[in-house]
Amino acid sequence: MEPDKRSNLHFDSKSVYLPPDEASKSINPPLFMSSSFQYDAEIYKQVVDGERKAVNIYGRCGNPTEYQFEEQMTLIEGADACLATASGMAAISVTLLGLLKAGDHIVCDWTTYSSTHEMLDHRLTDYAIQTTFVDTADPQAVREAVRPNTKVIYFETIANPTMKVAEISPLVEIARSNNIILVCDNTFASPYVMRPLEWGVDIVVESATKFIGGHSDAIGGAICMKSDQLPADYMEQLRWSTMVKLGSPLSPFNAWILLRGIQTLSVRLQRQCQTAAKLASYLEKHSKVKRVWYPGLKSHPQHKVAKQQMPDFGGMLTFEVDNEKDALKVLDNLKLCCFAASLGGVRTTTQIPASMAFLDVPEEQRLAMNIADGMIRISTGLEDAGDLMADFDAALGLI
Ligand SMILES: Cc1ncc(COP(=O)(O)O)c(C=O)c1O
Repeated sequence: MEPDKRSNLHFDSKSVYLPPDEASKSINPPLFMSSSFQYDAEIYKQVVDGERKAVNIYGRCGNPTEYQFEEQMTLIEGADACLATASGMAAISVTLLGLLKAGDHIVCDWTTYSSTHEMLDHRLTDYAIQTTFVDTADPQAVREAVRPNTKVIYFETIANPTMKVAEISPLVEIARSNNIILVCDNTFASPYVMRPLEWGVDIVVESATKFIGGHSDAIGGAICMKSDQLPADYMEQLRWSTMVKLGSPLSPFNAWILLRGIQTLSVRLQRQCQTAAKLASYLEKHSKVKRVWYPGLKSHPQHKVAKQQMPDFGGMLTFEVDNEKDALKVLDNLKLCCFAASLGGVRTTTQIPASMAFLDVPEEQRLAMNIADGMIRISTGLEDAGDLMADFDAALGLI
């Protein structure tokens, strides 16, 4: 089926369908484990004349398995183009280093993934890029933070780990009226739950390591673009100006694994959203739980915004017990759930953001982000919801 016909399919069909390999007619994509591709006189001339760019020259510039992953991501994000990267952090750093230069300013949300926050707070400022942190759920605060040299506004569609959901439309309006590129990280939501490009965001970054891959077995990332504020070939420009120079392409093997992950994204996420909603309601009623954050709960501060923007509320949730000691006791005594750093896989994983992902963020900043010592993050997997609740019940009973 041709790409233009595929883009008219529903999300489930887009994710599952892969064109058969032309040479072998294999219904699964071939895996090209090659760092180098053979030249002939014609290819040589095309390269020398600048007519042949990314296609099959050298693995750091791209690889056919990786291009196929880019094509699938383009389709499922509703994008015009995609660039595959070695990790989610590579997607974020390539995007920001491509868009920003010394003297530019970025407005970003106060609560983002810890490594993103640290990059915005330290690495970019080391290169004379100015950063202002605001609450992007407060459009007025974003408007007031914009300066003449602001080039980018950055936020997470569902923030890690506070589960904050910023309203996208006012951010699009602020960005458009000030010639600013609006970038968001959609990792917690995944393209099944949220497709920000359809709402007017210019660039979406994803850690494909999480829900897109879905099996905790491959690291990867993607940068997807649909923007009338950027040149149509901007992703190709970014490939050559930044991704190739930073040396951060996705490996062909991981591209192949991630392609398989995309095919089951819908069914996994449907189930994960259902289970997260059940766990959130269960935990909200539990006497040992101080508070639960899940966009699907009426008690969530941006529940109404989430309802407007998302067909479902995602597989991630957070809750709080009294202190870190109790949080550790609960996680250490879970038998079915896995106490682990990452998220988005078929196993339910749990972590203590304050002392794990956010360990290097100074305490006062972390508390200002609303990440309390006793906060527990859950990424729901595909286990039976009743079994998961029984697992939490037993562990919570020990504190
Ligand atoms: C929201 C978010 N964005 C980006 C990343 C970075 O992804 P990766 O580990 O694939 O570099 C993470 C990792 O946990 C994340 O949670």
